[in-house]
Parts: sequence; structure tokens; C-alpha cells
Amino acid sequence: MQKENLVSGMRSTGKLHLGHYMGVLTNWVNLQDEYNCFYFVADWHALTTKYDKTENLKQDKLDVILDWLACGIDPNKSTIYFQSKVLQIAELHVLLSMITPNNWVERDPTLKDMVKIIKNKDGDNSENVPQLNYGLLGYPVLMSADIMALNGAIVPVGIDQLAHLEITRDIARRFNNIYKTELFNEPKPKLTQIPLLCGVDGQKMGKSFANDIKISDDEATTAKKVMQCITDRSRARKDDPGHPDKCEVAFKYYEIFGSEDVVKEVEAECKAGKRGCADCKRQLGCIINEKFASIRQKRQELSQDIDTVYDIINDGNKKAADEAERVMQKVRDAVNI
Ligand code: TRP
Ligand code: SF4
Repeated sequence: MQKENLVSGMRSTGKLHLGHYMGVLTNWVNLQDEYNCFYFVADWHALTTKYDKTENLKQDKLDVILDWLACGIDPNKSTIYFQSKVLQIAELHVLLSMITPNNWVERDPTLKDMVKIIKNKDGDNSENVPQLNYGLLGYPVLMSADIMALNGAIVPVGIDQLAHLEITRDIARRFNNIYKTELFNEPKPKLTQIPLLCGVDGQKMGKSFANDIKISDDEATTAKKVMQCITDRSRARKDDPGHPDKCEVAFKYYEIFGSEDVVKEVEAECKAGKRGCADCKRQLGCIINEKFASIRQKRQELSQDIDTVYDIINDGNKKAADEAERVMQKVRDAVNI
């Protein structure tokens, strides 16, 4: 049986962090054998909010791909590309925009959050109706074009993207109805059981919160950031009995990155007051560094051979455009344009 197409993208936010690794990348890597995977950097989507801050865009896009390759996204299995190099996506976006009712995109709950983020970034905490650009309003329509142009059947995403995908399914259905075709299937989300990784301060891990550990951080930086992890706040001295279940960040990281034996040992020693938090976090830093050593090594090698990386991207751009062109020929036929 032919493998189904799977499509997913990430905005070009620059170097990825351990939350991306645990929540998205390990999952993407594991899907590579089962599906015909198309993984892309959504650089147009990045412009929906950062249209006026493009000075690092090229490097950011490259950094995302370097992280992917280092983590095991394999160009021999998956197609890796930049959204903006597949012009058929833009063409489909125009056609889909003709058939998408305004209120479908205006209702998008994610949009309201994004607008809020932009406002706060601009230091505007007022209740003023913020400026909403046409491109940002069309965010889910562009996302639909990303998926539909590549004939995507499966879309691995986080819960925050489900509302967008619902719009995609509505748009696909509407296209089929209007043009009396069965060209598009309704792409299904594939939710992952994400072990949610918080930042060292216990908040959501994110670049803008300066609480993240990057996949590409060196060992010293990682160790230093791990030392900032929040622990059991009620614990004053190292021989006080600790509470791993109240250890807000450090123990959670152990549960994610440590082996079962280590987790048990930490838990027992902590409860017995035989383990100081500083020592505990030093060990945690070593465990994380060990886990990412080979990934970082690979990333380092790739970054010294950028020509090869661009060969991989160019090859992916072309493969994705070929696939999208096959779809678009049918779309143009269906629309009679
Ligand atoms: N909106 C997604 C995010 O912010 C990124 C994205 C853009 C995407 N186009 C997509 C994800 C298509 C899946 C499919 O995470
Ligand atoms: Fe957390 Fe380790 Fe301190 Fe216990 S000893 S509170 S697990 S950091």
C-alpha cells in the first residue's frame, strides 16, 4: 500500500530547545518510516507576526534545519524544505482565500492569542483593538495551503494547532463541494503524547521567556542553566528531607531525561535528606549533556559543512515543489483557471 503523505511545519524561530526535541522532533523522527513525510520551515508564517524583524531570518531558518538534521530527521526518508520555496503553496493560498468565509478565520481562537502576543511585545497593555494584518488573519488559510498542496493526510501537531486544522478540514470540504470534486481529503491531526517540558523557571519553555535550554547549547551553558532549575521551595538545608513531587523543575527533568534507576535513587535520597539540591542538579546537567552529546556533535559537523546542508534543502525544495505541482495541476483543472 502506498504510504500516506504526512505534513508538518515549524515557524522559523531559530535554534530549537529541549521542549521542541521532546515534544515534536522525537515524534517526527519516529514517523519517518510509516509515512511519506514532508517537514518544512514555515518562513512565510514567521512573517505573519515578525514581518518587521527579518534581519536574522536566513540564519534562523538554517538553524531550525540544522537542529532537525542533528536530531535524526533523515533527508533520505523525509522531504525537508522551506515553505517559501514551494510557490505552489502561495498559489493555492490565493485560491483557498477566495472560498474561505471571513467569519471562519475571524473566529479562530488561536488568532486572538497571537494578536495578544504582538500587543504585549509592543508594550501595549491597553484594551485597544490591536492592528490585525491581512496576512495574520489568513494564518489558518496559509496553513491549509501548506497541507493541501502536499496532499497531506496526516498532520502531527500540538493541541494549540487543532483549531487551525479544523479550519483546514472545513476549507477542504468546501473546495470539494464548490468545485464538485473529491480532490482533497480532510487531513487528520495526529496528537502526540507530549511529556510537557517546562522552562528552568517552571513556566512554559520558550525562547522569549529566556528559560530554555537549546539543543545546540554547549555543555557549560547547559550545566549553568540546569543549576537555575527550581527545586523544592520548602527545603532550606541539604539534610532536610525533600519532596520530589514538589520539586518544581529539577525532578521533572529527571523523570524525562533520567533512567528509571536514577530516578528511583534520586527520589529515595531526596526524601531521606541525603541529597543536596546543588549536587542533584549537577548530576542532572551531566545526564542531559550526555543525552545530547552525539546530537550536538552532529550539529557541529553539519554547521561546518553548510554547502551540504543547502544541497539537502535545495533537493527537498525541489521534491516538495514537484509533489505540489502534481496537486496544483488538478486544482487548476477543478477551478477551470
Ligand atoms: N502553525 C504551526 C505552528 O506554529 C506551524 C505550521 C505552519 C504548520 N503550517 C503548518 C504545522 C502546516 C502543521 C502543518 O506550530
Ligand atoms: Fe529536587 Fe533533587 Fe533537590 Fe530533591 S534533591 S528537591 S529532587 S533538586
